[in-house]
Amino acid sequence: MILGIETSCDETAAALVTLDGEIKANVVSSQADLHARYGGVVPEVASRRHLELVMPVLREALDEAGATLDEVERVAVTQGPGLVGALLVGLSTAKALAWARRLPLVPVDHLHGHVASLYLEPDPVEPPFICLLASGGHTLLLDVRAYGGFDVLGTTLDDAAGEAFDKGARLLGLGYPGGAAIDRLARGGDATAFSFPVARLDGLDFSFSGVKTSLLYAIRDLGDRLEACRSDLAASYQRAIVRALVQGALAAAEQAGRDTIAVVGGVAANSELRAALPGARFAPLALCTDNAAMIASAGRYSRPLPYPRYLDLDAYASRV
Ligand code: KG4
Ligand code: ZN
Repeated sequence: MILGIETSCDETAAALVTLDGEIKANVVSSQADLHARYGGVVPEVASRRHLELVMPVLREALDEAGATLDEVERVAVTQGPGLVGALLVGLSTAKALAWARRLPLVPVDHLHGHVASLYLEPDPVEPPFICLLASGGHTLLLDVRAYGGFDVLGTTLDDAAGEAFDKGARLLGLGYPGGAAIDRLARGGDATAFSFPVARLDGLDFSFSGVKTSLLYAIRDLGDRLEACRSDLAASYQRAIVRALVQGALAAAEQAGRDTIAVVGGVAANSELRAALPGARFAPLALCTDNAAMIASAGRYSRPLPYPRYLDLDAYASRV
């Protein structure tokens, strides 16, 4: 069994996954409520909360799996990208557990983790495929040729798609994180009521900073008519972001000659995106936002570092 640990942002997560990709336990403790009053994640607050939560979350995962640490054969942990102080809590915990039991450890890249959410039972996706990874921190189009790696075909030049949802939600007074709240509000709205153009770029890159500004101006222009239009604004704004993501994914599949499109990351939970790409493979809802099952899953595909070669591993904030 592989023990996965994830602490890159504001979710403290531990999971137990078999070498065949069966999830035995997947526990996520979100700190979103703690950060909501600041309108976003406060890194230092996140690190401290991870420290408080990491052992209880780990114990809960073992309980859920009906397992003990004796059954863990390998530890997989997110090394980056993310908030360094937050990552260090998971990484230090993983090192200590692995070292004390002389287990091998696999450092996992968080983005590989999101892709590996597709490789879990009961309905795993097999490479090759085009993967749209849309989360709060990243928007990437990936050509996944094999389990171990991918080529980046496109990325966002400014805001990530999830960040655009979160900033839009804030403008609409929906709180943080706002993707799911926009998704709900949009259901009762008219997506054609407002036109929010998303920049079209050459190639497969994205840009979401303009659409957020158009929403800001629309809200300003509405003045006290805003309340009556909130669901129309949410629906039109969501439509604009989803359109850009869908067009990008289809163009990437065509360019790379791939038949399969897969979608992962927090924004993959979006109901309009799921409906707009009916032929695509979406990560299961529980595995879209950050979790440790995907990290343990990624830990199946790279060579673990043997005891004690991992003790000097460091976390990294961004990919070079
Ligand atoms: O993958 P994730 O948990 O964190 C990162 O690695 O960044 O993604 C979180 C993001 C947030 O921006 C959140 O607003 C967005 O995913 N999100 C959604 C939905 N659920 C979560 N965005 C749109 N529609 C949703 N239903
Ligand atoms: Zn993530």
